[in-house]
Amino acid sequence: NLAVIGSGGREHAICYKLSLSKKIGDLICIPGNAGTEKLAENINENISDFEAIYKIVKKRKIDIVIVGPEQPLADGIVDYLKERSIRVIGPDRFASQLESSKAFMKDLCRKNNIPTAKFEVFEDLDKAKIFIKKIGTPVVVKADGLAAGKGVSICKSYDDAIKATKEILDGKFKSSKKVILEEFLVGEELSYFVIVDKNSYSFFGSAQDHKRVGEGDKGPNTGGMGAYSPARLLTFQLEEKIKKKIIDPTLNAMRSLGHPFEGFLYAGLMIKNNEPYLIEYNIRMGDPECQVLMLRLKSDLLDIIDAATKDNLNKLKIKWHDNKCITIVLCAKGYPGKYIKDSEIKNLSNISSNENNQIFHAGTYIKNKKVFSSGGRVLNITCSSETIDKARKQSLNNLKKINWSDGFYRKDIGWRAI
Ligand code: AMP
Ligand code: GLY
Repeated sequence: NLAVIGSGGREHAICYKLSLSKKIGDLICIPGNAGTEKLAENINENISDFEAIYKIVKKRKIDIVIVGPEQPLADGIVDYLKERSIRVIGPDRFASQLESSKAFMKDLCRKNNIPTAKFEVFEDLDKAKIFIKKIGTPVVVKADGLAAGKGVSICKSYDDAIKATKEILDGKFKSSKKVILEEFLVGEELSYFVIVDKNSYSFFGSAQDHKRVGEGDKGPNTGGMGAYSPARLLTFQLEEKIKKKIIDPTLNAMRSLGHPFEGFLYAGLMIKNNEPYLIEYNIRMGDPECQVLMLRLKSDLLDIIDAATKDNLNKLKIKWHDNKCITIVLCAKGYPGKYIKDSEIKNLSNISSNENNQIFHAGTYIKNKKVFSSGGRVLNITCSSETIDKARKQSLNNLKKINWSDGFYRKDIGWRAI
């Protein structure tokens, strides 16, 4: 019996993959969305109320809890549930700082010689000004704490950098007032995933996502407009460097700090001259990267989660399909600004659902058997095929059939690979 916590496309994709397991008993999703409702029982509860979640887990005799989003992890849901003898996959509150504090993550890189952009942490505007003058522009200005994807500004001018720095120091983000200023790295991004237990870790896929709202990767940042897998740049040689220079020293450092990392670790990397640099860590699966990985995963996800929560990952070989996969995010018009809500999405039943073709829901709800939009990112049109190009054609074809007049999407997802 499993419980999945969260309500996005990532959690729908996890429920989808779990529901294919022959070993699954009850599957619940807290709180879930219109997509998970078809595969799991949605239970509407506030995911920051750990006591309420614990009560549901006990009452429903849940064996393992999977936590999708970062906020409950950063707030210590794993500590809370483990203290009460519940099996749960994810890092504890301390280890979650790899994502929840960029200052923590950068400091760990510095102490362990992990390649990352040159940086300093500031709490004072005058000192920050001197650093910006020294390092020059473009400069990257980052909020220390969780900022729902809105904490990073790439500033082309000195004035923009000062403005962004001042906003963070003045408390724009509740999570922290510290600012990280760092060197702008030129290269190509790659998302690299591993699943980690106390004894070992296993590769858990690669992907490239598209964060900017507009085609050609232009315009403001979003939560992600689409992704494809495997990532174009990943070779055996590069992967060895990623493990040796980034993943291994990170996991060793967390172990020596007395908080071994456990769960899904997502390294956001910049590849420059075939060398990896760590841009950020996420302590969970990516959204929408998880959607593409779940169509490429051949092994039973339940076996993997079971092994990871028993520290038996080293006894399991995780298998992947050779196919390529893409997901295109259908958004509500206006996103990432103010967007249209409560608009009906028709025609979803026209799209076939099979192992190469899935629509994962994000911001949706069902009323009178009809599907309506509730969020900025609404649906993930996810397809797999022999090539990225074929997968994208299929996904675009499905989007045409859905033909939602209040929505928009990028037609160029995966352009680097195509
Ligand atoms: P983060 O939340 O740290 O991943 O930053 C969001 C996005 O900003 C990244 O995916 C990159 O596209 C970009 N970015 C962050 N840091 C840098 C950097 N030092 N150099 C270039 N681009 C960066
Ligand atoms: N797609 C980026 C993230 O999940 O953080």
